[in-house]
Amino acid sequence: MCGIVGYVGQRSALDVVMSGLRRLEYRGYDSAGVALVDNGGLVTAKKAGKLLNLDAELAARPLPESHTGIGHTRWATHGAPNDRNAHPHLDESGRIAVVHNGIIENFAALRAELEASGHEMQSDTDTEIVAHLLHDELKRTPDLSDAVRAVCQRLEGAFTLVICDADHPDVVVGARRNSPLVVGRGEGENFLGSDVAAFIEFTRDAIELGQDQVVTITPTDVVITDFFGEPVETTEYHVDWDVSAAEKGGFEWFMLKEIDEQPQAVADTLLGRHSSDGRLQLDEMRLSDDELREVDRIIVVACGTASYAALVAKYAIEHWTRIPCEVELASEFRYRDPILDRSTLVVAISQSGETMDTLMAIRYARRQKARVLSICNTNGSTIPRESDAVLYTHAGPEIAVASTKGFLSQVVACYLLALYIAQVKGTKYGDEIAAILQEIEKIPAGIQRMLDEGDQVRKLATELAGSRSILFLGRHVGYPVALEGALKLKELAYIHAEGFAAGELKHGPIAVVEEGLPVFVIVPPKGRDQLQEKTVSSIQEVRARGARTIVLVEDGDDDVVPYADHVIRLPKVPTLLQPLVATVPLQIFACEFASQLGHDVDQPRNLAKSVTVE
Ligand code: G6P
Repeated sequence: MCGIVGYVGQRSALDVVMSGLRRLEYRGYDSAGVALVDNGGLVTAKKAGKLLNLDAELAARPLPESHTGIGHTRWATHGAPNDRNAHPHLDESGRIAVVHNGIIENFAALRAELEASGHEMQSDTDTEIVAHLLHDELKRTPDLSDAVRAVCQRLEGAFTLVICDADHPDVVVGARRNSPLVVGRGEGENFLGSDVAAFIEFTRDAIELGQDQVVTITPTDVVITDFFGEPVETTEYHVDWDVSAAEKGGFEWFMLKEIDEQPQAVADTLLGRHSSDGRLQLDEMRLSDDELREVDRIIVVACGTASYAALVAKYAIEHWTRIPCEVELASEFRYRDPILDRSTLVVAISQSGETMDTLMAIRYARRQKARVLSICNTNGSTIPRESDAVLYTHAGPEIAVASTKGFLSQVVACYLLALYIAQVKGTKYGDEIAAILQEIEKIPAGIQRMLDEGDQVRKLATELAGSRSILFLGRHVGYPVALEGALKLKELAYIHAEGFAAGELKHGPIAVVEEGLPVFVIVPPKGRDQLQEKTVSSIQEVRARGARTIVLVEDGDDDVVPYADHVIRLPKVPTLLQPLVATVPLQIFACEFASQLGHDVDQPRNLAKSVTVE
């Protein structure tokens, strides 16, 4: 949510900042802007709307060559998404430029104070006050970093700030509390970015910035302190993917590329995590086996698609570990006063590792003495940094706003965790775990098959592209798949789409079924608690009321055929693994459906990939 870039070095700062913003645009696209230090002054360009509008502005009114600059792509919080509220924001002398991600919670009081002392605001944003506060602070100290530290001490809420100053032409200063910021280290140049994608084209050497820290970059130096100027220990790391992973690579949309990458993403999540005899080793996890043995309750917290991965995982966690497992939306979790203690394991799932609701949930859980393990795709991000333990998904960067490979790899990581706990607690025999792992290892091939058979789904999406409402039904692990299928369609196509537990149909949702309504149904594999039979009955019930049924069912199950207008075949896999193959056609469907409507699939309206406000 909001992408931020800063650069000092020998290259054209505008080129570096714009290429960074292009890679960060998934974080917000309400407006974009840049500020460059130019010959004792600052020059800026900013435009409402997507980065393309800023490109056009820069083409019409080129900025001078500069080697120091900052940039921003916005997801609006305070103030409408127009040119006036676009970042960067300047102080009244035009000397200081600020970009910001987050929400400054005490901005109203600070704004009133500034206005009372004669400052005139040019925008409705919370950000602008920082430029004015810095203006005043720089009268007291000549040092920009000192001034930033002093201002940060006065701010409440969440903020990443990146600042440049016409009077310090070779310096960019960044600060962070609660929102993300990373440093990219180059030769004779340094970078700041909301995530490493911002500078991956130029360097893969990064430094994590901790909570309440200020970083000062010059072409040759990186200095990091806390808000009081004390030096802090830093963690450097090398990014294990390169620029090609953050490019479309010939696909029309990032989302299509990421759907296509799912066999690899799942394989990479499994890689190196078990021996050939099925013994799991989760080396990076940081929780000892003794600590895991003490766990008597698991609560999974997450948002959006990650929360559906959690709902899938709950079935496996309880079945394999025999530990009670609850799933809770991170945004609700801490407000219901949950009962937690040292033997509760809170599992936080987050692709980005920066979702504020999830971060606040784990901070709460740790304050209540629960142990926190995060499942995350982004190395060095805040949620794993603040967890007791982490399991990375290794799916590679996910750029499309709607999560796809993130979801499948999260489910797989949860399964690895559940099996590991089962191994440690002895709730499954070693050979049983080995057999399950063998089945999971076959899943990338199953996903590949669903991709290879994607044309029938695309054709169906074209046929149904006029629909204004679509339902999804599932039972057991198929229920969260139905929720995810509906969410993808809402996110991308902006139509009414809902997922229901098939068994609940008769308790209400069936009332909305009418002639021609498309209803997707995920049919469980045969042989488990009559779930298949019961789902077949649900298909009949909606069909009898005129629905157009699209049935996802495993190979060889022909019971549904008489009641299906369209059959999508799934490979035969164990029940708990079916979501890993059944979700894929629903992703393809939503992507194609939205393309048919002419929507921007990668950047759906009103959304942002990484939501760093509560
Ligand atoms: C946003 C995105 C969703 C994503 C959710 C959780 O709402 O639009 O696609 O599922 O955040 O993101 P996380 O990074 O925590 O998995």
